[in-house]
Amino acid sequence: MELAFLQWIFRLLMVLILFQGVCVMFYYTPNTHSSRDVMTETLQQLHCAKLRQKFSVIKPAKSIVLKSFTQDLSDFMNCPYKSNQTERELNRIRLQFCCNATETLMLTKNNTADNQTIPYETTTKKKPFQMTAALHSMLPEDIPWSGRRLGRCAVVGSGGILKNSSCGREIDSADFVIRFNLAAVNDSDVGMKTDLVTVNPSQLRSVYKNLEKNPDPLLKRVSVYGNATLIIPAFAYTFCTTNSIKALKVLQSIRPQQPVVFFSPSYLRMLDRFWKGRGLREVRLSTGFMLISTAMELCEHVHVYGFWPFGSDLQERPVPYHYYDQGTPSRHMHKMPEEFVRLLQLHSQGVLTLHLQPCSSPGVDLENHL
Ligand SMILES: *[C@@H]1O[C@H](CO)[C@@H](O)[C@H](O)[C@H]1NC(C)=O
Ligand SMILES: *[C@@H]1O[C@H](CO)[C@@H](O)[C@H](O)[C@H]1NC(C)=O
Ligand SMILES: *[C@@H]1O[C@H](CO)[C@@H](O)[C@H](O)[C@H]1NC(C)=O
Ligand SMILES: *[C@@H]1O[C@H](CO)[C@@H](O)[C@H](O)[C@H]1NC(C)=O
Ligand SMILES: *[C@@H]1O[C@H](CO)[C@@H](O)[C@H](O)[C@H]1NC(C)=O
Ligand SMILES: *[C@@H]1O[C@H](CO)[C@@H](O)[C@H](O)[C@H]1NC(C)=O
Ligand SMILES: *[C@@H]1O[C@H](CO)[C@@H](O)[C@H](O)[C@H]1NC(C)=O
Repeated sequence: MELAFLQWIFRLLMVLILFQGVCVMFYYTPNTHSSRDVMTETLQQLHCAKLRQKFSVIKPAKSIVLKSFTQDLSDFMNCPYKSNQTERELNRIRLQFCCNATETLMLTKNNTADNQTIPYETTTKKKPFQMTAALHSMLPEDIPWSGRRLGRCAVVGSGGILKNSSCGREIDSADFVIRFNLAAVNDSDVGMKTDLVTVNPSQLRSVYKNLEKNPDPLLKRVSVYGNATLIIPAFAYTFCTTNSIKALKVLQSIRPQQPVVFFSPSYLRMLDRFWKGRGLREVRLSTGFMLISTAMELCEHVHVYGFWPFGSDLQERPVPYHYYDQGTPSRHMHKMPEEFVRLLQLHSQGVLTLHLQPCSSPGVDLENHL
């Protein structure tokens, strides 16, 4: 009887102490957060964890309807980014073993013999290209940044979401910046710094005709990238090769400080096989997706800007397809929405950082501090 009573008193005391503990906890926190804020924050963290889980296993559907996940994606993009070094290194090792960009991204004197045959990237039916001593002598000795791990890389796509994004400063602060198709640069939205930029052979064929007689337009266009390396998929299709070699000859003689290099078609073929094996089925990967893959192997951290294949943004405002023109997507070629879902997966898994919103302006910073 006495014992039971003592036990009862003891329990009562414990409850009081515990209760007091909780009160003290809530009492001392209001300086920074009220108890309501703590609750909200906890709920927010739960919501973010749920979304992170959802998007890390999101399945690439045949057709992706943006409307069905705009709200979730918008919420998720406001969640803190969680990097996962284990996942990042795993991904790097997989890419090294499949494709080895470190050694084989581009044709060099060192990885290509002067009499080697070069099979085309997309076809085995056409006769392979026969390397000549003259062309071989114009290949770079080695990959320009060979031997060093690149730090923070920014891969800048052409998506219209970059318009008015104010991301220029953030992009320019990266250690290595990759751009595509000789896209326009500017301080405010897309930045100026460029280390590697692709040239599309179709561009050479349609816009820069007659290069030997009239090299000025191309020279003017490439000079805005300073000494950045220009990379061309010269052996993707047979039509690409002649114009690419012409561009190499012309630029190398007039602007020797700016390397012009060719993608190794075998590298791109391995990359294609790698992603097809992971369910990404399309005629050919976009150059953007190819170089994001390259960056995941070569860079410590990969930040992706301007990859957005939808006609409206997260606030459901219309956005142009490209930030620099009125172009529209070519549907038969790339499956941009499916590539996008892959990028979203990689972002959720902490492998790369996808930027889909305007970069922080002073106003937004202030909001975060309040
Ligand atoms: C990071 O990735 C690894 C490998 O996929 C996984 O086992 C681990 O749980 C992840 N860590 C976090 C904190 O999510
Ligand atoms: C990449 O290629 C180089 C040269 O062929 C080779 O030495 C290296 O071991 C390769 N790396 C991997 C991970 O296969
Ligand atoms: C070519 O590659 C080999 C093996 O990776 C290396 O030992 C050699 O120094 C390289 N030569 C040049 C000229 O880069
Ligand atoms: C290429 O040249 C090397 C020696 O320079 C020779 O051994 C090899 O047989 C040649 N290969 C072809 C395909 O001509
Ligand atoms: C960008 O800003 C300009 C000027 O404020 C505005 O006219 C234009 O519609 C905006 N473009 C986009 C795509 O938001
Ligand atoms: C480009 O290279 C030239 C020649 O090597 C050099 O003089 C110049 O400073 C470089 N420009 C930049 C922007 O690095
Ligand atoms: C920067 O480029 C974007 C896209 O072409 C354009 O909308 C914007 O007006 C440009 N800003 C400046 C300052 O040139």
